Amino acid sequence: MKMIAAVDRNWSIGKDGNLLVRIPEDQKFFKRMTLGKTVVMGRKTLDSLPGGRALKDRANIVLTRNPDFARENVTVVHSVGEALSLLSDIPADDVMIIGGETVYRAFLPYCDGAWITMVGAAFEADSRIPDLDREPGWDMVSESEPAEHNGIRYTFREYRHTPET
Ligand SMILES: NC(=O)c1ccc[n+]([C@@H]2O[C@H](COP(=O)([O-])OP(=O)(O)OC[C@H]3O[C@@H](n4cnc5c(N)ncnc54)[C@H](OP(=O)(O)O)[C@@H]3O)[C@@H](O)[C@H]2O)c1
Repeated sequence: MKMIAAVDRNWSIGKDGNLLVRIPEDQKFFKRMTLGKTVVMGRKTLDSLPGGRALKDRANIVLTRNPDFARENVTVVHSVGEALSLLSDIPADDVMIIGGETVYRAFLPYCDGAWITMVGAAFEADSRIPDLDREPGWDMVSESEPAEHNGIRYTFREYRHTPET
């Protein structure tokens, strides 16, 4: 499985339940990389989607501790272990971890890679993920040419993770 996230230069990812910045090319990239796959997210990230609705044309798995939680087109799980056992039946290449902070952190050890949109700016934020350039076992294997949207520069990076044995 892989994670996919847009981060600023401090590896911040969100503020007050929202994304830090919306870059149309990044949203297209996210769609292209997740369509037809299984996406795993926290309940807060689900609530941040338009109408709080599941992503179309993807199998949506949502973590919550609320035993009564239900949402249309969502498979609800109540722990990381329950998610992992559900995911064990799905080819790893078809699973994308899409956030937010608590879910990225919980699944980081199980990911074999990450797609990171690196935004060359620093925003005020309340959610962040570990800096993969400093995480043992994580290596950047490619980075796109820089692009720009409304004066904000960004690149698409691919990271690979070799878990310690
Ligand atoms: N930049 C990006 O690429 C990106 C992507 C996604 C999200 N985000 C941002 O990230 C922020 C949200 O992150 P967050 O960490 O606050 O929320 P989150 O990870 O989306 O959701 C947290 C919720 O998930 C459930 N959960 C988490 N771990 C669990 C576990 N081990 N077992 C059972 N349930 C679990 C809990 O739901 P209950 O409270 O219902 O129990 C928890 O409150 C927002 O600002 C969002 O915009 C950014």
